[in-house]
Amino acid sequence: MSGIKSGKTNSPFRYPGGKFYARKLILEMIPENVDLYCEPFSGGASIFFALNADRTVGSSILNDLDSELVNTMTVIRDEVDNLIELLHGIEATKENHTFYKKEFKPKNNLEKAFRWYYLNRTSYSGIMNMKNCYWGYGEKYSMTPERWPAHLRQVSDTLQGVNLTTKDFEQVIDNLPDGTFCFVDPPYFNADQDKFYTCSFSDEDHLRLRDALKRNAHRIKFLLTYDNTEELIDLYRDWATAILDKEWNYTIARTDDQKNSKMLKDGFKGKRSTGKEVFILNYHPLVLSTSEDDSEPESEPEPIQEPEPIQEPEPIQEPEPNPEPKSEPSESKDEDEVCKDLSLLSQKYNIEFDRLPKILRNPKVLPMIRGISFEHTAQKSLSEILPTKEYSVSLPNLNPQPGDHDPDIEIEKIRTKEKKKVECKLAGGDSYSEKHPTISEMKKSKAWKKVNHKSNLKKKEQIREALEEEGYEYEVVRSIKVKCHRSRPSNSGSGNKAKAEEYGISTKQAKAHSDNYHETDFDIVVASAGNAFYSSAGNEDKLPSFQPSLEAKKLLEESGLDSISLNGVIFAARSSDLAPSIKKPCTGKDCKKKTKCGFIPKNPVIELEVVDGKLMPKAPWVKIGEIEKLL
Ligand SMILES: C[S@@+](CC[C@H](N)C(=O)[O-])C[C@H]1O[C@@H](n2cnc3c(N)ncnc32)[C@H](O)[C@@H]1O
Repeated sequence: MSGIKSGKTNSPFRYPGGKFYARKLILEMIPENVDLYCEPFSGGASIFFALNADRTVGSSILNDLDSELVNTMTVIRDEVDNLIELLHGIEATKENHTFYKKEFKPKNNLEKAFRWYYLNRTSYSGIMNMKNCYWGYGEKYSMTPERWPAHLRQVSDTLQGVNLTTKDFEQVIDNLPDGTFCFVDPPYFNADQDKFYTCSFSDEDHLRLRDALKRNAHRIKFLLTYDNTEELIDLYRDWATAILDKEWNYTIARTDDQKNSKMLKDGFKGKRSTGKEVFILNYHPLVLSTSEDDSEPESEPEPIQEPEPIQEPEPIQEPEPNPEPKSEPSESKDEDEVCKDLSLLSQKYNIEFDRLPKILRNPKVLPMIRGISFEHTAQKSLSEILPTKEYSVSLPNLNPQPGDHDPDIEIEKIRTKEKKKVECKLAGGDSYSEKHPTISEMKKSKAWKKVNHKSNLKKKEQIREALEEEGYEYEVVRSIKVKCHRSRPSNSGSGNKAKAEEYGISTKQAKAHSDNYHETDFDIVVASAGNAFYSSAGNEDKLPSFQPSLEAKKLLEESGLDSISLNGVIFAARSSDLAPSIKKPCTGKDCKKKTKCGFIPKNPVIELEVVDGKLMPKAPWVKIGEIEKLL
């Protein structure tokens, strides 16, 4: 059991009962320094991968009785290149799935791993029990085969040095060295888990587990997750140190009604339920909250799927790894789930369900949706970037009224309870610009003496070209602007009066800044850069589309960005750093305190540069990944 490399990736498998969505709740319960980490029921080992993405762990043991699963992990660890070679060029199709499930006969461990991995990635909910292993792949929400190799390599990296075993849990727990931390995630007590796992669990196994944990409790630390059942809790009540209720939702099988889209009429009743789980520990965790996962209010709860034995179910949403470091899989719902929610919403608010797409495309509606959507994107990014033990990131107001001061996002330092308000803004449409030196600036250069006799030099470009021939160098200032003003100005008399009182300023001064934010309205602005390259010019539907100018295209090329990857480009700055100063006075026409009015410009500028092929903002802006500097 040598030390393992710290990696940043997710489980290689889709796995029923996987704890991906509960990772934040679980990680905050795991003690700070873990020398030896063990999962006796590792399955897809989502907590192992989350832990390694979060911190450095001494060494690890992953065990599961399912030998095919462990063989696949082992092949990924030891011969990932061979596995990738076998997978090369394979397509995710139902025909292939059926072939590898029913006909293909693997000849060795490598081929076994290849078959298992392929079926797992293309099966409904990752259920590998062959009776219930159905084709379930969705191009839109499953990891596509082209992305498998890179992900497998990251997984392989993380698995280096990990001890992978195929034993019964009892043998593992009894032989753990003293001081081991054990994350114990057995099959559920109540679920019909014969359907999920190749190795199922009997009532007697649950008792064996209780006994094994009890007799080793004096020398190891364990965190056990279970379904919240009185009968089960009774097994631990008398001797466990903490039994914490945790709530999250789970999804039960699609019914025939749902599949036949009858749910659109009947409101999809009965599909989602709230389940209760318990965390049972034999030590005092750092965090003792017994409530729902409030550090991650936006996260989609862990789905537990029960496949239908006769008809083949549709694919489900799965967590997908993202190529960017630190980023995590999408937590969006599958399409049916979204449909269900929208259907219920339409019924409740009397919206024509079939016209929703058209309604969403309405130019009055779409900009607002894009703004709110960015709040969700930013909240998700921030909760992935900031250490979960130190910060909680929430969307306190899901329905902000334009013009009020409720923060879009709130970042709370868990230890001090200090809160920071975050305002989310999009870059102004089509706001990318490049500033070349002005004629008067060029005329101040040394090279000007050499070219000023040329009488044909009239236009700015001509002067610049002539100067360049004489070795003139200058910096092109590349920038975007952020739309950072109130959509509902305080223009009326009483509005300005209230504003004046709020900020302790004169009514005139309030009027001069009727649509500006004040630096005290929030602490940090996060800005989505992408919109700067969108424009509605020339679009019949008046909706913005990705249309970078020639100059902008060059910038994006230099920084390796396209319309999709641009979505992840988010910058942040302190509001106080954006407020006017002696160097950058307020440009408000009627402002009486130009250098210290405290009002943020309506369109703060983000200067950009490309450093080592990456798009970087200049101070006071930072990339969102560095937000901790601003907190
Ligand atoms: C709830 S799953 C674990 C999920 C995992 N925590 C994850 O995030 O993917 C339970 C696992 O226990 C395994 N298992 C069942 N009986 C076992 C036994 N007697 N010893 C060890 N593992 C067993 C199953 O194969 C299954 O993979």
